[in-house]
Amino acid sequence: MCGIVGYVGPGSTLEVLLGGLKRLEYRGYDSAGISVIDSEAGLQTRKRAGKLSVLVDDLDQAPIKDAHIGIGHTRWATHGAPTDGNAHPHLGGEHLKLSLIHNGIIENFAELKAELISQGVKFQSETDSEVAAHLVAGEYLKSNDLSAAFRAVVKRLEGAFTLLCIHEDHPDLVLAARRNSPLVIGLGENENFLGSDVAAFVAHTKRAVSVGQDQIVELRQNSVLVTSFDGDPVELSEFKIDWDASAASKGGWPSFMAKEIADQPQAVGDTLMGRLASDGSVKLSEFAGIDALSQVDRITIVACGTAAYAGEVAKYAIEKWAKLPVSVELAHEFRYRDPIITENTLIIAISQSGETMDTLMATRYAKERGAKVLAICNTQGATLAREADATIYTHAGPEVAVASTKAFTAQITAGQLVALALASLRGSMPQAELNELGQELLKLPRAVKEVLDSVGRMKELGKELSDAKSILFLGRNVGYPIALEGALKLKELAYIHAEGFAAGELKHGPIALIEEGQPVIVIVPAKNTPGSLQPKVISNIQEIKARGAKVIAIAEAGDTEVANYADEVFFVPQTHPFMAAQLSVLPLQIFAMELATAKGLDVDQPRNLAKSVTVE
Ligand code: M6R
Repeated sequence: MCGIVGYVGPGSTLEVLLGGLKRLEYRGYDSAGISVIDSEAGLQTRKRAGKLSVLVDDLDQAPIKDAHIGIGHTRWATHGAPTDGNAHPHLGGEHLKLSLIHNGIIENFAELKAELISQGVKFQSETDSEVAAHLVAGEYLKSNDLSAAFRAVVKRLEGAFTLLCIHEDHPDLVLAARRNSPLVIGLGENENFLGSDVAAFVAHTKRAVSVGQDQIVELRQNSVLVTSFDGDPVELSEFKIDWDASAASKGGWPSFMAKEIADQPQAVGDTLMGRLASDGSVKLSEFAGIDALSQVDRITIVACGTAAYAGEVAKYAIEKWAKLPVSVELAHEFRYRDPIITENTLIIAISQSGETMDTLMATRYAKERGAKVLAICNTQGATLAREADATIYTHAGPEVAVASTKAFTAQITAGQLVALALASLRGSMPQAELNELGQELLKLPRAVKEVLDSVGRMKELGKELSDAKSILFLGRNVGYPIALEGALKLKELAYIHAEGFAAGELKHGPIALIEEGQPVIVIVPAKNTPGSLQPKVISNIQEIKARGAKVIAIAEAGDTEVANYADEVFFVPQTHPFMAAQLSVLPLQIFAMELATAKGLDVDQPRNLAKSVTVE
């Protein structure tokens, strides 16, 4: 969950490190720190608890000498509170000449720490990471070979780690290692970079190489050597980053979240681009990566958080159109209960970052048992994409705000494309009907824009309800996962109690929560579709109104009935009932953002959270 950046080259190392950390801060913002090596000043380290701005202010007041090699870290605390002392880098060795940063959890740190303490090592922090610094320093003292020392230590570590290490006696070398935690190399002209993801260095180079599991990198100004932990060389597989640094900047918006909400017409459009012909037929060339796809007889979607809700929405389309049974599993629950997996199971792993450890572990578990894996991922070169048989990239562009918005609508859209492509492959519906659905998808970017252009009242409601202690969300069919997503947005951004319920479940318990003035946001299904559940949801609205609820309905344009029962109605354009998911979530995103902003909260960096959860 931490952000890591490394640099060696002729440029300003301070600029590269602090710029990289700024773009990685979404990964954690409990503390930040850097180390650089200057030929005269030697190893200089500065680290501070709090957001990156605290470190930047500190460096402004008491500058350190710029250099041509360095490492930087932004932390999401796991072991040890967010303090200056627990901030990375951690130093080790004679005269504290070695500096090391870590992302992940070293699971055997307690026994390693006991061993080091028995040898007289004094610890400066409560972190698991510091053991690695002392271990490398100790090995180096014995062999005087920094690479060999680093290699020996990474083999002893258990758990998840990306490590970066520099030493004052080697002012030309950054060592890095990764196991179960992300690491990407940036290849520059006469300079090279390391990062937790490409955002760390995209301002400097578009050429990237993702580092594989259990590999070590020796990074110098003009060379990059990647080997296995045992020292066997690994061939680099380079890719081009397809977005630029401006895509990861606020671009005049008050927050990344506001910008990313506004990006959604394009995010949805770019996800469809090249995959849908103008007649509505779908072509997913990515399917070629999966053997015997037509033999698949069940689908399991694994994901966490918002991505899991996107999976829940996709499930409706896959079952209805491709006629395949689908279960959606929270990735962290999935592998701990002997799930049924055969070689005809298709796992669809959905993840914006492609680095969520729970999703990766669930995917690996299924793959080991013979399942095929299709990833829906937003981040190029991510571990999930490397490990899946095929990846449908959601081209939503970088998502920086911790609360997922544009990745969500893009994930649902990608899921619906998969449903159409599978249906076409299996012949489960007439092609003409599938093409009509494809044409509906093509209309979505415009409809998304239309909704975003008309959210004024939702903004006001967010402000008006900023004192609410609890807000409930109700939905049915695809509106149910949207209700869950609306509640999650509010919890993570505004820190108030929020719950999403299936409207049909109301009478089985949750209705007891309704009292005078309780705000309830209800996602009303489209009225004029065969078998519509709209009348049932209208009944639910009446039931809660009778008990004092304040009802805000999200309904389809033209539904004149809802206004008779709800206190407020926000209309979204007519579309296919499944695609209404991508539209009805938009006012909920806006509502949560405005409510949190009215409470004076930071919507990009909510408390206790980090963007990607790279530990289990
Ligand atoms: O990167 P991923 O899509 O795998 O992340 C999954 C969840 O951690 C993520 O969606 C989380 O729930 C968001 N903060 C929600 O806004």
